[in-house]
Amino acid sequence: MLFSTLKTEISEIILQTKSADQKMQAICNILRDGISYYDWVGFYFKNGNKQELKLGPYAGDQTDHTIIPFGKGICGQVAVSNKNFVVPDVKAQDNYIACSIHVKSEIVIPLFKDGENIGQIDIDSHTPDPFTKADESFLEWVNQEVAKIIS
Ligand code: SME
Repeated sequence: MLFSTLKTEISEIILQTKSADQKMQAICNILRDGISYYDWVGFYFKNGNKQELKLGPYAGDQTDHTIIPFGKGICGQVAVSNKNFVVPDVKAQDNYIACSIHVKSEIVIPLFKDGENIGQIDIDSHTPDPFTKADESFLEWVNQEVAKIIS
């Protein structure tokens, strides 16, 4: 599915009368179903005042990594760097937390609310090196939309 089509559908989800978690779940589902190389899609958020991330809504296989300390793995690094992290080959990363042997690549985009990094969207792919600048821009847009619906 084209990013432009997904944007239209996500904008509609954002406007629906549902909880923020239900909307984020619908967004995870549509992203995973809509893009062939998005095999696992999930949101992590800062866990209260703790220096750790907690898994929120996700689509794909269940993961053991429901809590990730800041600094650990790709997700934990993004929690402290506030920057997009595109990993074309997960095997080339030493600070990486493996969720599945099938995962070849990953992209993590921080989610800002009122200028603060409060979480992230994390996407795992079974395809090597699939992510482009277009994915980064699209996922930044997704996070901006999600920031509108979380308090
Ligand atoms: N691979 C991530 C851990 C989360 S799973 O991909 C769902 C990381 O290195 O932070």
